[in-house]
Amino acid sequence: MVFLVISPFMPLKSTQRPMVQSRYTQGLNAKLIRVGNPKTTGMVIGMTQSSLAEVDSMKFVESVIAESPDIATMPEVTVKIIDIVENPKSKMEDLHDVIRNDPALSARILKVVNSALYGLPASVANIDRAIVLLGLSAVKNIAIATSMTHLFNGQSGIAGFSLNDIWRHSVGMGVGAKLVYSSRKRPGGDEAFLAGLIADLGMLIERQALGQQMAEVIQHFLEDGGDYCALEQEYMGANHQQFGLAITKQWRFPDAICKTNGYHHDPLSLPVKDRELPMSVYLADVLACRLQVGFCTMPADQPIEQEVINELGMTDGMLASICDQMPEHIRAAEAILNRPEPKIIGRLDHMAC
Ligand SMILES: [Fe+2]
Repeated sequence: MVFLVISPFMPLKSTQRPMVQSRYTQGLNAKLIRVGNPKTTGMVIGMTQSSLAEVDSMKFVESVIAESPDIATMPEVTVKIIDIVENPKSKMEDLHDVIRNDPALSARILKVVNSALYGLPASVANIDRAIVLLGLSAVKNIAIATSMTHLFNGQSGIAGFSLNDIWRHSVGMGVGAKLVYSSRKRPGGDEAFLAGLIADLGMLIERQALGQQMAEVIQHFLEDGGDYCALEQEYMGANHQQFGLAITKQWRFPDAICKTNGYHHDPLSLPVKDRELPMSVYLADVLACRLQVGFCTMPADQPIEQEVINELGMTDGMLASICDQMPEHIRAAEAILNRPEPKIIGRLDHMAC
């Protein structure tokens, strides 16, 4: 028997409460076990394991996203960039045309390209040169990353918690994942940067659609700790990975990016062939938590899964080098992406890596 806790005393909007409940009980032969759970003063719905397996939580997640128009609408320029790059008939000029029509985006891309993140020997003055030096795919990923930063603007509406906290941690994950790729001398570091940067996108959906429940999750987490994704599951019926997976699929992001969104807290549950990018972002997430960059869903002393270390072939020296480089690269990325500098209040323990 598995219990789903749905509390009517969670600060659900009256319109959301029946929505959440009915979506979890409809057609599942779920039965009300009792009302008045001591932890949540809510009701507990018990389901058999087989019934739970039938729960189409992605349908629930998709319906929540559909009710979040602000976040569900991908920035227009990002849509255009993805369309161009995914179309085999596209040419480099097509991407250039889109970027050129957005001077602010163009300037940001050049800042990224000329930053310490890429370490190019000479300054790059135009987008064409950037595409030649870094490749179309790299520029696409940089363009998408920079075009999405505005999603993190605004107020969280949650006391003691701001979207900047999510943003700061996201930059940490992006930078860390890129460094994991470069330390392994693997191509695709720019895709890793994008994957890390948007890995917690699902939290933005939660904040918009289920803000009050998210506030409860955060309050509970900050007070008592625990497994953040499990708390989200308990209070909201889904976690940010599921929301992120759904929105990135809806936006037709590459499969590896979607899987990273959906499994960055549990990459080992994926088939081996799909794990590299999710594992790299997972590792970056753990390291960013050790640095205490922004909003961390893991404690600073969270151990790294040994299987991840083994599969990625990370040595103590490689981890120590990443740890050393992360703070500077995070500061560079923050400055480039035009957001406040992150607070780095911890020090990485290299031996712990
Ligand atoms: Fe996450």
